[in-house]
Amino acid sequence: MNILGIETSCDDTSAAVYNPEKGLLSSLVSSQLEHLEFGGVVPELASRAHLTLIIPVIEEALRKASLTLDDIDGISVTAGPGLVGSLLVGVSVGKAIALSRNIPMIGIHHIEGHIMSNFLEDPLPEYPALVLVVSGGHTELVIMNEPLDYAVIGSTRDDAAGEAFDKVAKLLGLGYPGGPIIDKKAYGGDSDFVKFPVSKVPDYEFSFSGLKTAVLVYVNEKGEEFVRKNLAHILASFQHAVVEALVVKSLKALNKYRLNTLLLAGGVAANSALRTRLKAEAGSSGFQLFIPSVKYCTDNAAMISIAGYERLIRGMSSPLTLSPEPRLPL
Ligand code: KG4
Ligand code: ZN
Repeated sequence: MNILGIETSCDDTSAAVYNPEKGLLSSLVSSQLEHLEFGGVVPELASRAHLTLIIPVIEEALRKASLTLDDIDGISVTAGPGLVGSLLVGVSVGKAIALSRNIPMIGIHHIEGHIMSNFLEDPLPEYPALVLVVSGGHTELVIMNEPLDYAVIGSTRDDAAGEAFDKVAKLLGLGYPGGPIIDKKAYGGDSDFVKFPVSKVPDYEFSFSGLKTAVLVYVNEKGEEFVRKNLAHILASFQHAVVEALVVKSLKALNKYRLNTLLLAGGVAANSALRTRLKAEAGSSGFQLFIPSVKYCTDNAAMISIAGYERLIRGMSSPLTLSPEPRLPL
């Protein structure tokens, strides 16, 4: 069985082929560079770029897998959440292939895809598990009881963790996307240099907008010269505050729900400080930690293809009337 995955929810045009016996046969991500000069994703440019890129990217994914469309048994496509114009391109192409080949198609929730990226590589996690979802649009703690069964126990009240990285990078004029840039520039910095506030919202909720404001106030107060000289320390301190909030809530939830497995998912799962800290916590507390390879943390179609496979083998499929849902709940 070969599943073609398609992911176009934001600014990455991606296609992948997954085969349950052989694993991932190909995974292609074409990141759009059009947005760099604007310091963020421009939705209209993103959907136009997806239009140009999607067919070549699918063709290349098939070529790399040494397959043709005749060998594809099912289509899995991100149906939401995301930018509506971007989602529309992937969903339309998915429908066209499904209709013309008479094969089933399934619309996938983007966050389910991120969670399932933990199942692309060995060793495979066991259930039930807690999932810390940290992307540019989402920050959530999710309990995965078994495949396809998710319960969101807490989310962010304002900015997502990735959004905080992006906004802080923007206010410091460091470029976009902010997460990987800050990760790199914070390397070797003293994370105790500034005591930025770690949010104190209740239960399993998160809040990052106060932290972003604290960074803004701090850099305005200290001035350009000081910030330039101490950039690595300031960024390491900011990064530490984000990681601290994420780790404290994850440990609290593991404890309260008596779970022994933690999965990390989403673009911010690529963050080196978060990965290092969670590995240390897992070592001392004894829980099982699963973190996807960096290439499967940020947006990709491999995660969508495996998520689609899990649904298609259970007899699920979407009708050809499937429409993109920019605000689809998990
Ligand atoms: O999952 P993703 O690729 O797209 C969404 O679904 O949003 O996540 C993108 C987010 C961006 O905010 C980006 O800055 C952040 O993930 N990100 C990182 C790192 N790599 C990507 N944040 C911190 N450290 C990184 N190494
Ligand atoms: Zn994503």
